[in-house]
Amino acid sequence: MSEPIENRPDDAEIGRAVEALERGRLVILPTETVYGLACDAANPEAVARVFAAKGRPRFNPMIAHVTGIDAARRIAALDGRALDLAEAFWPGPLTLVAPAVDTAAVCDLARAGLDSVAVRAPDHPVAQAVLSRFGRPLAAPSANRSGRPSPTTIADAADETGAQAEAALDGGPCRVGLESTVVGLFRGELLLLRPGGVTRQQIEAVAGPLSESGDEARRSPGRLSPHYAPSAPMRLDVRQPAPGEAYLAFGPDAPAGGLVWNLSPAGDLQEAAARLFACLRAADRAGPGAIAVAPVPDEGLGEAINDRLRRAAGKTG
Ligand code: TXA
Ligand code: MG
Repeated sequence: MSEPIENRPDDAEIGRAVEALERGRLVILPTETVYGLACDAANPEAVARVFAAKGRPRFNPMIAHVTGIDAARRIAALDGRALDLAEAFWPGPLTLVAPAVDTAAVCDLARAGLDSVAVRAPDHPVAQAVLSRFGRPLAAPSANRSGRPSPTTIADAADETGAQAEAALDGGPCRVGLESTVVGLFRGELLLLRPGGVTRQQIEAVAGPLSESGDEARRSPGRLSPHYAPSAPMRLDVRQPAPGEAYLAFGPDAPAGGLVWNLSPAGDLQEAAARLFACLRAADRAGPGAIAVAPVPDEGLGEAINDRLRRAAGKTG
């Protein structure tokens, strides 16, 4: 699945990163979704360093990253439907939230004191190499400072939290570009806590219908955290940008001009997802009066793209 990586870290570099993790230090880790800021999930001091580096509210729990299903089952009680989902989508952009079974392997602080734990097996050779050499779960939120867009390149990750990390591993540009889909398992119910790299349709095809949740924010604390908003105001569903506005286009009919970034000239949602955060960062850096965004179809990956766009526009309801 992975694309060639120019500066793929060698064994020695991976060894140094693993050794830093063992000492409770932080490592910028590439995954297929976005770059993570990783630490030993069992070490509360290391986890506290990640909260501090991101400026992240401590009520917001972290995802424990593991190599695969066997390692996941040691920390989370995965029922039949959860295992079906893990079989279908791991390694890959799916996070499962389930009751915690080993509360030392993923410490209280990493779980924000909850009795559940979020777990995922990333589909990236560098992340997998680090996880298997480390041998235990790694807590890794996205490597942005809280309230900023998730980094999808090593340069953006280094800009955000590089100063707090002892090592930064280059895994190339992230293939998916949006964070993982978070699915919660609560008393036999399956809830979509965060749309992401695996679509609702893909989940439902494997595990049956997802329940709608009225109180999803309480169950997924991250939905309450500050989210990325560019300095310029944003307007969504705009077909014709006004003069002076930056424009994020989608599809072949984009207007020509200096402040236009096309998420996908071919109108391909996968490409748009992969480019979304980098285009938002670029448009914001240009310092426009406003950022207008073309309509993006709300099907498939479009659900997650529109979720991130609404949050960036300050519409979190
Ligand atoms: O793709 C991704 O998921 C990336 C890469 C690095 O793996 N990670 C990521 O982590 O996006 P973060 O911390 O930025 O987002 C994790 C989300 C948050 O919304 C958090 O609230 C939710 O997962 N979460 C974690 N543990 C949870 C739990 N026990 N119950 C409910 N939600 C949980
Ligand atoms: Mg994040």
